[in-house]
Amino acid sequence: MKFQFAVTFFAALAAASPVNIEERQIGSIGENELRSGSCKDITFIFARASTEPGYLGISTGPGVCDGLKLRRLGRVACQGVAPAYRADLASNFLPQGTSQAAINEAIELFELAASKCPNTQIVAGGYSQGTAVMHASISQLPSNIQNQIKGVVLFGDTRNEQDNGRIPNFPTNKTKIYCAIGDLVCSGSLIITAAHFTYTINVSDAVSFLIDRL
Ligand SMILES: *[C@@H]1O[C@H](CO)[C@@H](O)[C@H](O)[C@H]1NC(C)=O
Ligand SMILES: *[C@@H]1O[C@H](CO)[C@@H](O)[C@H](O)[C@H]1NC(C)=O
Repeated sequence: MKFQFAVTFFAALAAASPVNIEERQIGSIGENELRSGSCKDITFIFARASTEPGYLGISTGPGVCDGLKLRRLGRVACQGVAPAYRADLASNFLPQGTSQAAINEAIELFELAASKCPNTQIVAGGYSQGTAVMHASISQLPSNIQNQIKGVVLFGDTRNEQDNGRIPNFPTNKTKIYCAIGDLVCSGSLIITAAHFTYTINVSDAVSFLIDRL
């Protein structure tokens, strides 16, 4: 099953690549701005899907980052969960749907945002395995840091079924989960269908959801 998953996933990612190349030209796949830059009014922390390269990946991550930056010029820092989060395929099969190293790194980034930039408003997101990184990390954060997180968008949520359509211990009205019809990861399986690769359609809605919560 592992092998089947990998083959299907790679095939689907390859099929989706024309869109990805176009987005890559926008240039934000390497974003590490919380760690390396100055504090901004808004900090976006994102965990990419399995096999996606860079910090934000090459699909919904840079899409939401660039959308936020366009609508709040000069006021947004984007930070991908990397490099400890490797976005490898095998980690999808771990009990939490990702590695402990990835969860720890995401927790550390939320803590860094709160300690380095106490006045920033945090927004977050994840795609595929990256949603598992967000479910596990955000649900464990202390309430003061959770309160600093104003909105979370999750695309193709691999923990949707397991966590009853929400991030545990975190307000549902600050969370928006995008689960396309026919995306079977949203109903508790790791079977990858074409629907799992449709979420760039929802990026502008996700940007609006996050902006509306600031
Ligand atoms: C969101 O839900 C919380 C309870 O979890 C509530 O206190 C808050 O008023 C709600 N916010 C909005 C905008 O509905
Ligand atoms: C994502 O976009 C599709 C196509 O426009 C739409 O049908 C779907 O409702 C959107 N999902 C959400 C959660 O808004």
